[in-house]
Amino acid sequence: MSVIEATEITKVYKRGREEVHAIRGVSLSIDSSEFVAIVGPSGAGKTALMNIIGCLDTPTNGTLTIDGIRVTGRTERELVRMRRGTIGFVFQQFFLIPTLTARENIGLPLIFNRRKADDWKIDDILDQVGLSDRASHYPHELSGGEMQRVAIGRALVTRPKILLADEPTGNLDTGNSDLIFHLLQGLNREGLTILMVTHNPGLARRAGRVVSLKDGLIEHDMPPPGCPI
Ligand SMILES: Nc1ncnc2c1ncn2[C@@H]1O[C@H](COP(=O)(O)OP(=O)(O)O)[C@@H](O)[C@H]1O
Ligand SMILES: [Mg+2]
Repeated sequence: MSVIEATEITKVYKRGREEVHAIRGVSLSIDSSEFVAIVGPSGAGKTALMNIIGCLDTPTNGTLTIDGIRVTGRTERELVRMRRGTIGFVFQQFFLIPTLTARENIGLPLIFNRRKADDWKIDDILDQVGLSDRASHYPHELSGGEMQRVAIGRALVTRPKILLADEPTGNLDTGNSDLIFHLLQGLNREGLTILMVTHNPGLARRAGRVVSLKDGLIEHDMPPPGCPI
């Protein structure tokens, strides 16, 4: 079953009089529990596409269906609900709150969702991202890899179906990149659908599917949809 169905998506940014055609007609269908690496040169439209799929931005044209719900044409309020309920985000810059501990950063989305920040829920997540012994550390007391694990924990705490990660290992050394990738792989095996933008060819190769973008278009989609391997 496809959880993400993007059809003929375009995105035009206007900068003064200039128009930037960031995405020029992308159709992409992603099944539940796929692990998809998005690759391509800088400026190819990777972030623009991730932001549209993640309902952080709206396409200029085209339609998007997430988890069976057509999101194109929805109000901002409805998009917020979709973001908070179905989608988790991880970015290259971890975007942690410096004055909150690892535990508090992870629990933040529960507060935004007006859900109780149950300790056991957060304990579970801390365990899942391997940070049980760092729970009361502040971001500046953590390594880059640990900060990204907190960010992943924060993305997971609402139990999303889809995780969107835009260059999650872009600020990490090889060892930490491998650890993060390994963590994402484990989450994927448990059923989480993952889209990960990466410049790391080694990591991309280890994803189940690689979609490469160039000049706002899909250049390759490997293995092709429907391919048995
Ligand atoms: N908010 C924006 N306003 C104007 N142009 C933008 C904006 N965001 C992205 N772009 C342009 O859209 C194109 C694709 O950008 P982006 O999706 O960030 O590329 P990538 O993530 O693949 O490096 C680039 O030419 C970029 O300059
Ligand atoms: Mg980008």
